[in-house]
Amino acid sequence: MNEGSFEASKKRSDEITADLGVHPEKYLMLTGDRPTGRLHLGHYFGTIKQRVKLQDMGVTTRIVIADYQVITDRDTTANIQDNVYNMVLDYLAAGIDPEKTIIFTHSAIPALNQLMLPFLSLVTEAELERNPTVKAEQEASGHALTGLLLTYPVHQACDILFCKGNVVPVGKDQLPHIEQTRQIARRFNERYGRVFPEPEAMLTEAVLIPGLDGRKMSKSYGNAIALSATAEETAKLIKKSKTDSDRNITFDQENRPGVSALLTTAVLCGRGGTEAELAAEIGDGGSGALKKIVTEAVNGYLAPMRERRAEIAERKGYVEEIIHEGNRRANEIANATLDEVRAAMGMVY
Ligand code: TRP
Repeated sequence: MNEGSFEASKKRSDEITADLGVHPEKYLMLTGDRPTGRLHLGHYFGTIKQRVKLQDMGVTTRIVIADYQVITDRDTTANIQDNVYNMVLDYLAAGIDPEKTIIFTHSAIPALNQLMLPFLSLVTEAELERNPTVKAEQEASGHALTGLLLTYPVHQACDILFCKGNVVPVGKDQLPHIEQTRQIARRFNERYGRVFPEPEAMLTEAVLIPGLDGRKMSKSYGNAIALSATAEETAKLIKKSKTDSDRNITFDQENRPGVSALLTTAVLCGRGGTEAELAAEIGDGGSGALKKIVTEAVNGYLAPMRERRAEIAERKGYVEEIIHEGNRRANEIANATLDEVRAAMGMVY
């Protein structure tokens, strides 16, 4: 069987998910995000909520704010400082506990970045070029393929391996990168002696939350509800969302994407019951009644997070302190790993 096939990854991922509950202490989870904007409900239900759960179960957790990845497919770092700051605020508001979880920016960890050199020697140009996610990102960017975009999966391997992460919660699009990371770990260990674990992907049970127009929730589509939005902004966004003129509300994702996305959003935000039940309850109330229910559900669900966010934002210098402390701890780990790598390679002088 092809080890890299989706079925194989899914099977391993299911086994790990089951084992996590039994032996959380065996796992070190590393995952991360690109700081390109505010986190929204799609991120929350897709991954953040699960990170908090794993953290609270006793899995060792680390989160990289992947600032260098921002320039893989765009030409600017405008707003990056503000994006990083707000990303940390979103994490903390959502329940990430900085006492348990190290939050760091990989640009601040020199020894992590230095792993890139030995790692690049372990991959071939052909392997880099056939990564389907890199290809898709290059096409979407409309730019020529840069050296960084081509090699960022190797840099992502540095993110994972510097702290010896052995489980990486990811969506399907990130599977090729995890496969590449496993290959790098395996080749390094074979060549120089065992230093790295071969990390496993944990496919997030991605509740693919639809955006308000039924397409995938994404900031670039203008259909995303940011965790940091105010109740008024949220109400406005929901009010503006596209439904249809049929007053009778039904759950029909194919033919009524807008209406169905709203129903799903209410259900995810704890309205109770299923989408079909909620639709039946609204009946002929039309999209006005539906939107009112969704607005209440979303704002009710996000209220405690927004409150916590505001409280944390009030504390002068607190977020900066979390980042500095996270980077300090990540540097300690990275330096220790790089020392092991130098020793394994005989580069000790
Ligand atoms: N590439 C990931 C994304 O776009 C972010 C990321 C960077 C990441 N480094 C990582 C995810 C390491 C998992 C592990 O979402």
